[in-house]
Amino acid sequence: KDFAGRTAFITGGANGIGLGLARALLAEGCKVAIADIREESIAAALKTLDNQHVMGVPLDVASREAFALAADEVEEALGPVSLVFNNAGVNLFQTIDDSSFDDWDWLLGVNLHGVINGVMTFVPRMKARGQGGHVVNTASMASFLCGPQPGIYTTTKFAVRGMSESLRYSLAPHGIGVSVLCPGLVKSHIYASDEIRPDGLKAGAKPVNTEMVGRLEHVHQFGMEPDVIAARVIEAIRANRFYIFSHPEFRDEMRELFDEIIAEFRDYPEDAGFAQRIGFEKGR
Ligand code: NAI
Repeated sequence: KDFAGRTAFITGGANGIGLGLARALLAEGCKVAIADIREESIAAALKTLDNQHVMGVPLDVASREAFALAADEVEEALGPVSLVFNNAGVNLFQTIDDSSFDDWDWLLGVNLHGVINGVMTFVPRMKARGQGGHVVNTASMASFLCGPQPGIYTTTKFAVRGMSESLRYSLAPHGIGVSVLCPGLVKSHIYASDEIRPDGLKAGAKPVNTEMVGRLEHVHQFGMEPDVIAARVIEAIRANRFYIFSHPEFRDEMRELFDEIIAEFRDYPEDAGFAQRIGFEKGR
């Protein structure tokens, strides 16, 4: 795929992985919009990027209306968007049985509805123009592997993976590629998600566990550099690859997971010939 001259829209583009993507796409000659809820981060990002082909757009991805307005603003300024990065995300480090409805609404709003809004806003425009494009949704290794924490986050990331996979098949005939980005630990700001929790969803929040946030801040310093992730994303778009796994240390655990799943397909004698009788070919 040729990147030069294309317009890219990156949600959560002002920090972490999104900012790495912005840098990489600008280096490829794209025009880039970074859409983010943190206006001060947008200002800082524009300063570090220091490039005339980038613009910032304040946006809460959870809002459908705001998303459509942001898309209009960007397309008017930078031309039709054909590279969409649904990347904004927040995390909440607690188990599901320890969570409130406000916790669900917040995480589902950003991590799932944010991606839905990006897809529903841009995909019809891309299809109508008939010039192809690419959508990258940031999920996580947590879209495959999960422990007790963080439960709601994992739920949203599984959903993003499912949605991406379905889109992969429906958009292929339109020349629009889809990838799902599944990173492990990345050097980013995600440990500070509590800072941007909307006031209306704070009633059901537990008091911020500053010790845990401090620990996560420390851990995230050792994460992979966003620029490294971004280079892998560019390579994957170019090759039109669906899965983007950036962290090789998860390979064995993934193999264990799939081995467990395959082993659970048991051979019951009464099933012999069932698939042929119902004319089953493939589940996708
Ligand atoms: P980050 O916190 O550094 O960057 C995320 C950006 O999204 C921030 O600038 C934030 O202001 C923005 N954002 C949050 N809520 C928003 C909203 N409602 N509307 C618009 N912008 C919003 O974190 P990071 O790590 O770069 O996160 C990017 C994506 O990567 C997320 O989807 C996250 O779940 C995913 N991820 C991160 C991993 C990590 O270890 N950091 C690992 C796997 C996935």
